[in-house]
This record gives sequence, structure tokens and C-alpha cells, in this order.
Amino acid sequence: MRAEAPPPEVVVRAMRRRHLPGVLAIEHRVHHPPWSAGTFAAELAAGDGRRYLVAQQPRGWRTRVVGYAGMLTGGGEAHVSTVAVDPDAQRRRVATRLLVRLLAEARELGVERASLEVRASNRGAQRLYSRFGFAPVGLRPRYYPGDGEDALVMWLDDLQSDAYAARLARQAARVAAADAGADERADAARGGRR
Ligand SMILES: CC(C)(COP(=O)(O)OP(=O)(O)OC[C@H]1O[C@@H](n2cnc3c(N)ncnc32)[C@H](O)[C@@H]1OP(=O)(O)O)[C@@H](O)C(=O)NCCC(=O)NCCS
Repeated sequence: MRAEAPPPEVVVRAMRRRHLPGVLAIEHRVHHPPWSAGTFAAELAAGDGRRYLVAQQPRGWRTRVVGYAGMLTGGGEAHVSTVAVDPDAQRRRVATRLLVRLLAEARELGVERASLEVRASNRGAQRLYSRFGFAPVGLRPRYYPGDGEDALVMWLDDLQSDAYAARLARQAARVAAADAGADERADAARGGRR
């Protein structure tokens, strides 16, 4: 049996304007209606209180954006404004990596509680968020422009607690375990070729 090729290493870093072409290419594939280049540029320019991250993978001697996430913070609260992963890179813990880093930064900023909206039909994203402790608290009817779908509002409390630090550590460990599995598959693939 042929060993599966390992996913190339994913790195999470602060989003910059130079990342926007890659970000927008994903945005147009996954969000309807998408945010515009102007919206992302304005968020990046707004500075304090905003954190935007990209996940990148090596591609030849360059890198490509495979996902991104962002939040607004203020008054001890954060609002997760966007999370998206390239459809070709989904279910490889890219969003998990982004949320581990984003919520760790929220803790460092002293944030106590965080909220987000997610499409009522988007069970995959809701499952992802529940892994990070977000719980549903209500619906915003016809929230999404275009198709008018309802948004589920989710909140996360106790970000500053030790229990939450342990939850984040568990999610980080899942990412590390996935990376270790990829390394083992790579070793097996190299061994098989000899
Ligand atoms: C939702 C989204 C961000 C998830 O990104 P991802 O990198 O594939 O997520 P991860 O691989 O980190 O998933 C972690 C866990 O979340 C849950 N999950 C994520 N996507 C899922 C899906 N499509 N169906 C069911 N569960 C899902 C699973 O529990 C998963 O763990 P598992 O793979 O071990 O079962 C991605 O599918 C996406 O960009 N979708 C389009 C945009 C969107 O919906 N954004 C979020 C709402 S604003």
C-alpha cells in the first residue's frame, strides 16, 4: 500500500497586506457574500484591538495562504470576526491552529469572554467552535445578507481561567499529534521508496 504524502508544514503568522491576494482567493470560495479587499485592508489598518492571522504552507520556494482568522477586542471582550480555510486544505487542523493562536493572544490581551456568529446550517464550524468552548446562546434571525440565513450566536466565558488554558493546551496537543503522525507517514513513505 502506498503511504499518504504528508501535508507540508503550516505556519501561523500575523496577516499583512501582502497576504491579501491569497486571503481574498479563499474568501471568494468560502464566504457568500465575501468581504472585499477594502474591508480586509481597513481591518488591518485599524490597528489596536484587532488581530488577524494567516496560516501559510510552503509552495516551492514561496508560501501560499491556506487559511486566516481574525478578531476585534475591547472592554475585556473579543469578537471572532472571521475564520476560513482553503477548501483544498480543510480537515487538516488549519482552523484549529489559527484558533489556538488567536485565543492565546486574546488571553494575553486580558480578554475574559469571546463571541461569534456562525450560519445556523454550518454544523462543521459549530463543532470546531465548541471544541474551543464556544456554546450557543441564541439566534440572530436573517442575519446574513444575500440568502438571509439565521446566525447562531456563540459565547465563550472564562478565557482567563486555568481550565481554559488547559483546553487550549489540549487543542494545541491535537495539532502536534497530527504533525507527528504526518512525520511518521513521511518516514514510512521515504522508507518505502528505498
Ligand atoms: C469551518 C472551517 C473554518 C474549518 O476549518 P478546518 O481547518 O477544516 O478545521 P479543522 O481541521 O481544524 O477541524 C477541527 C475540528 O472541527 C470540526 N470540523 C471542522 N470542519 C468540519 C466539517 N466540515 N464537518 C464536521 N466537523 C468539522 C471537527 O470536529 C474537526 O475535527 P476532526 O477533523 O478531528 O473531526 C472550514 O471548513 C471553512 O473555512 N469553512 C468555510 C468558511 C466557514 O464556514 N467559516 C467559519 C464560519 S464563519
